[in-house]
Amino acid sequence: MSDTDQIEIRRLDVPELSTSLDALAAVLHDCVTGGASVSYMAPFSHEEAREAFEAWAAEVEQGRRLIVAAFDNGDLIGSVQVILALPPNQPHRGEIAKLLVHRSARRRGIAERLMECAEAEARAEGKTLLVLDAVTEGDAARLYARMGWTEVGVIPGYALYPDGRPCDTTYFWKAL
Ligand SMILES: CC(C)(COP(=O)(O)OP(=O)(O)OC[C@H]1O[C@@H](n2cnc3c(N)ncnc32)[C@H](O)[C@@H]1OP(=O)(O)O)[C@@H](O)C(=O)NCCC(=O)NCCS
Repeated sequence: MSDTDQIEIRRLDVPELSTSLDALAAVLHDCVTGGASVSYMAPFSHEEAREAFEAWAAEVEQGRRLIVAAFDNGDLIGSVQVILALPPNQPHRGEIAKLLVHRSARRRGIAERLMECAEAEARAEGKTLLVLDAVTEGDAARLYARMGWTEVGVIPGYALYPDGRPCDTTYFWKAL
């Protein structure tokens, strides 16, 4: 069996989401601890990560957001989200958010598979246009460019790393 055969990627339904909150939070906590610029500042606790996923889970229950997760032999190692609820004049548009892979599971193509599934699920929800933003010239930006996303431009100093350093952000879009 190859390294990736044991990987399963799937959209989480509400019952599975509610039992996966700690595992999802553990991946977010690991990414922020590792220095990822994904909204949060250091120090960042597991409890704060769990509260974030509780809020997102409530949006999933309302049909406003979807969450896709990656499992390695049953262990949750990554996730990505699609924000579905946007203004009334943008019903065809979605936003990709919080692509996260645990540091121990990186460079095995997990993020690419998470994105493929998120794009397919967004399409199934009737979305024909997706947008996202990423740290300029970061690991994720390379992935999006490789997966056919179009770069719009760079906003200097848009966000901060967890340690307070500023980082530039690049916007991307993709038609589905
Ligand atoms: C960005 C992130 C999601 C990428 O996750 P990942 O699962 O490592 O991504 P992939 O494995 O699909 O691709 C990463 C690299 O591994 C390479 N790779 C993929 N499969 C591989 C394999 N089997 N063997 C060796 N390399 C492999 C890819 O080609 C890619 O190379 P590159 O860095 O030269 O572009 C991850 O680093 C992360 O969670 N970062 C912190 C959070 C973050 O910044 N998220 C982005 C928010 S926009």
